[in-house]
Amino acid sequence: MSGAATAPAAVIAGIGRYLPPDVVTNDDLTARLDTSDAWIRSRTGIASRHVIAPGTATSDLAVEAGRRALASAGGGGAEAVVLATTTPDQPCPATAPLVADRLGLRGVPAFDVSSVCSGFLYGLATSAGLIASGTVGSVLLIAADAFTTIIDPADRGTAVIFADGAGAVLLRAGRADEPGAVGRVVLGSDGSLGGLIEVPAGGSRQRSSGVAPEPGDEFFRMRGRETFRHAVGRMTESSRAALAAAGWEDPLDADRFAAHQANARILTAVAEELGIPQERRLSNIEWTGNTGAASLAVLLAEATERGTLRAGHRTLLTAFGGGLAWGATALVWPELKTLDD
Ligand code: UT7
Repeated sequence: MSGAATAPAAVIAGIGRYLPPDVVTNDDLTARLDTSDAWIRSRTGIASRHVIAPGTATSDLAVEAGRRALASAGGGGAEAVVLATTTPDQPCPATAPLVADRLGLRGVPAFDVSSVCSGFLYGLATSAGLIASGTVGSVLLIAADAFTTIIDPADRGTAVIFADGAGAVLLRAGRADEPGAVGRVVLGSDGSLGGLIEVPAGGSRQRSSGVAPEPGDEFFRMRGRETFRHAVGRMTESSRAALAAAGWEDPLDADRFAAHQANARILTAVAEELGIPQERRLSNIEWTGNTGAASLAVLLAEATERGTLRAGHRTLLTAFGGGLAWGATALVWPELKTLDD
């Protein structure tokens, strides 16, 4: 028998979420934008969304979600903090060290992962790698976005979709055959299509040009229709690869399907391509909108709290977003304690 040690798996041991208290309804938006409640509901599936109050930053959301995930895991700490975000508090430094400090974890390794709406899955793969390598024995992975801070309030194509929130999981070292163990995370990217989703100004390309940004270039832009098509294709394809990696031959082996809440029509299209029936699909886009990197983590936390996602459910996760970047993974959901908001 080989004496080689098996690398530890990352096992989900705690979960939490935080949505800021202020709610914006579709009717609130129609008061200032050329849109309608009927258009937003039928084209996106969104009825309302949570948004930050003036002065709130991503770290404020992240700390709340992180605190809940730590408490859900039994109140211990974490040996590292990974923060997936599109909207760091500042361009430099990373926001994760500040979040770690505010959570009483000063001194632990802490860094940001930047992968827009697939940030939670990129963060999950990164965190699992930290654990598998023996670098740390536990990771607090937080996905948080104050997405409305980069949205042009006058752009009806994005202002009706994006919103704010944070979700978090505590990962601890464990065995690959335990419920909650994170297996292979299928990841991919296509930078040739980076222009479909971008904030044109504020980075080194624009700053080094010596040319002042055009008005509005500091805002997020998305070519919606083209993005939609890639979102369906990539989430379907990576879901199939994740199912195969998990040895689940048939998509019906998945008891629950949790996808980045980009647009209800996208979620329906991906689930239909995969043949996953309605009652197995988790969704909260109707009242959360698209919260960027946070979306999948918020969905998982909320479904766990509501009991629609339970211990033993074989769960397929997938996400897609700017980069372009996407991912998927499949795992057996663990028994988790949840805390009320
Ligand atoms: O999270 C990261 C990944 N994100 C995504 O995957 C999002 C992908 N895209 C989408 O969700 C959808 O493309 C949108 C919701 C952004 C747009 O929906 P759509 O059905 O693709 O609409 P469209 O862009 O094809 O536009 C159809 C029409 C246009 O008018 P004309 O040119 O036909 O006269 C738009 O100007 O709808 C118009 N429109 C609106 N009308 C009322 C666009 N936004 C709005 C709006 N209210 N808010």
